[in-house]
Amino acid sequence: MAPSILAADFAHLADEVRLVEQEADWLHIDVMDNHFVPNLTIGLPVVQSLRPITQLPFDVHLMIDEPRRWAPAYADAGAYNVTFHVEACDNPVALAKDLRAAGAKAGLAIDRDTPIEPYLELLPSFDTLLVMTIKAGFGGQRFLPALLEKVRLARTARESGHLELRIEVDGGIADDTIEQAAQAGADAFVAGTAVYGADDPAAAIRRLRALAASGVVGH
Ligand code: DX5
Ligand code: ZN
Repeated sequence: MAPSILAADFAHLADEVRLVEQEADWLHIDVMDNHFVPNLTIGLPVVQSLRPITQLPFDVHLMIDEPRRWAPAYADAGAYNVTFHVEACDNPVALAKDLRAAGAKAGLAIDRDTPIEPYLELLPSFDTLLVMTIKAGFGGQRFLPALLEKVRLARTARESGHLELRIEVDGGIADDTIEQAAQAGADAFVAGTAVYGADDPAAAIRRLRALAASGVVGH
């Protein structure tokens, strides 16, 4: 479970992180540059400031142009996983190598309108595959179930290639959608609104985790 601080109160970020610290596995941090996506969020200085205040591993999701220029700095800042978009990068395998050399896991993100088939062969170079289940750019959008077909294809590729790969879904993950994502084969779940929009964010994570587990059992 990776709560996304995009839906948190930016005036109290440290407190918002502490609210989920006991229940989350990763803290998902959405970096947007107003170029790759129209939205503008947070960047390196905020990640650097947050790093010492929590033990949670940081799952940094870069929605930026030219990720080669910036991604390794997030690894240097102590991110556990750094994910960049395939649509923004002309040599994803080289950047994955750089990230691993900098001590982070390497993640590849696939946006709503990008087919996954051409990229399945790159997966051995990555630790994480992030399948968008919305169009990247904003929280609070409606989950698009048709995009789970990419999760199914990735899972088949993972099995046939005996890959160590986490398949993460991002966008519209909530009580009524997480089971189907788990059933399709996702094993990491980003949730912004469903966590920080809840009265009790920690309880929301527990509930989501239980629902995801029942989705796996039902598979
Ligand atoms: C959107 C971000 C997501 C966002 C998800 O581009 O990548 O991580 O925080 O928000 P919800 O869970 O509200 O769809
Ligand atoms: Zn994200």
